[in-house]
Amino acid sequence: MLKGRDGWRQRFHLMPPEGWLNDPNGLCQFQGIYHVFFQYSPNEPGPDGRKARTWGHYAGEDLLHLKFCGVPFWPEDPVDRDGCYSGSALVQGEEVMLYYTGNVKQPGDHDYTYSGREANEILVKTDGKTFGFKQTVLVNSDYPKDCTCHVRDPKVWQEGNSLYMVLGARVAGPDRNAQTDYGEALFYRSEDGLHWTLMKTLTTPERFGYMWECPDYFEIDGHKVLGICPQGLEAEEFRYQNIYQAGYWLVDGELEGEQVLHDFTEWDYGFDFYAPQTFVDESGRRLLIGWVGMPDEPYKNPTASLAARSWENCLTVPRELTWENGRIYQNPVPEMKELRYDETHIFPDQEMILPDGAGDFEISFLEGDEEEKWEVVIGDGLTLTYDEGIFRMELTEAVGCGRTIRRLQVPDIQFMRILVDCSVAEIYLNDGELVLTTRFYPAYDKESHDLRVSFRCGNAAITGWKMSCMQTNKELI
Ligand code: FRU
Repeated sequence: MLKGRDGWRQRFHLMPPEGWLNDPNGLCQFQGIYHVFFQYSPNEPGPDGRKARTWGHYAGEDLLHLKFCGVPFWPEDPVDRDGCYSGSALVQGEEVMLYYTGNVKQPGDHDYTYSGREANEILVKTDGKTFGFKQTVLVNSDYPKDCTCHVRDPKVWQEGNSLYMVLGARVAGPDRNAQTDYGEALFYRSEDGLHWTLMKTLTTPERFGYMWECPDYFEIDGHKVLGICPQGLEAEEFRYQNIYQAGYWLVDGELEGEQVLHDFTEWDYGFDFYAPQTFVDESGRRLLIGWVGMPDEPYKNPTASLAARSWENCLTVPRELTWENGRIYQNPVPEMKELRYDETHIFPDQEMILPDGAGDFEISFLEGDEEEKWEVVIGDGLTLTYDEGIFRMELTEAVGCGRTIRRLQVPDIQFMRILVDCSVAEIYLNDGELVLTTRFYPAYDKESHDLRVSFRCGNAAITGWKMSCMQTNKELI
C-alpha cells in the first residue's frame, strides 16, 4: 500500500497501473462488455526491449467495474515500430475492428514533419479478448499530396452499408512551417473495412491551427458534429488557454457531399483535457471520455517522480452527451451516483471533510441572491469563485505546479456539480453546459488523506457525498 504523496491516486477515475497514459482509444461496448483502451507507455519496455507508446486495455460489464487487461499489441512490427498511436473501434457483428496509426520514423536525417515519418493506418480484429494480426489499410501515398507526415488517429463508423474513416492531418502551407501549415480532416470510405478510398478533405475557409489531431464525427439529435484537437491557435481572453485545444465544429451539409464547419466550441475549459473520443453504447447513449492531461505542458506532473510505481495522468469519468439549447451538454453518466455515500446537506457557509479525498457536490444557487458572488475552496489550493458574471478556477503555485488561473464569462450560474477525486476536479456548470477539468496536487500527509471542501455561497442549496473507490482503483492504491 502506497501512502503519503500517492494520496494523489484517484478513487474513481481510470489511471494507468504504472507508467504514462494519454488519449482514450477504441471505446466501445461489445456483447455487453465495455472496452476502454488508452495510449500507454508502461514503465517496463515492450517485448523487443524498447519503450514506445502502445495501447492499454480496461474492460468490464459496467463502467464502474472495469479491469485492467494488459497490453493488446506492441509496437514491434515494421509498420508501427515507433508507436501504436491513437485510434478507434467499430463493432461489426461478431468482432470488433480496431484501427490505429502505426508511427514509424525512418532512419536517417529527417525532420519527421515534412519527411522521414510513416503514418500507417492499421486494422486489428478482436473478440474483446484475443487480438488478430495487423493489417495495414492506408500508407503515406494514400494521403493527399499536400499532407505533411502528420496524419493520424483514425475514427471509424458505419452509415448505411458503408464504413467511413476520418483522419486528422497537417497540410503543408506555402512556407512549410507552423505559421502557414494548416489542420484538415481527411474522409475515407470503404465497403469492407480493408480497402479505403479518399472521399474528401474538410477544413475551414480561415486557417484554424497547423494540425488537427484526434478527429471524431457523429450525429447527435440530428446535428452533425466534427470533433478535433487543433494545435497552434492563439490564446484569447476567455478561450484557447491551453497549449493545444479540444473542441467540436457543427457541420452543415451531407457527409457524402460538401460540408461547412461552423461554431467551434471547446469541450472543456480546464487545464487538463485533451483528445476526447465518443462512442454509442448498447443502450444508445453517446458517451465521451477525455484524457485528463496535456501534451508538452511546461509543468512537471509530480506523480511522475514518485519513488515507487510512478504514474502519470488519468481519464475523465465517462460523460453522457445530450443536445440542448443549440449545443452539446456533458454530464457524468448516471451510474457514477452509485459510488456516493454519506449524503450531507451543507449550509452555504460550511464545509465537508472528504476522508479519502473523493466526493461529489451539487450546488443549486437560489433566486434572490442579490450579490451573485460565491466561493468554493477545495483542499489547500483550488478555489472556484463567481463574481460579476466571471467564473474563476484558481490554483496556488504549489497545488497547481505552476498553473494558476482559468476564467470564463458566464452570465448566470444556477447549478454546479463538482466531482473531486484526490488530484482531479471535474466542474460542471449549469447542468453540463460548460465543463472545466483540472489536476491539482494538495499536500496530503502520510497519515491522512482528508480533503476539506468549504463553501461561502450565500443563498444556495448544497448537497455533498463521499465517493467510494472503484474496485479497479483499490488494486492500485
Ligand atoms: C494526441 C496524440 C495523437 C497521437 C497520440 C500519440 O495526444 O498526439 O495525435 O496518436 O497522442 O500518443
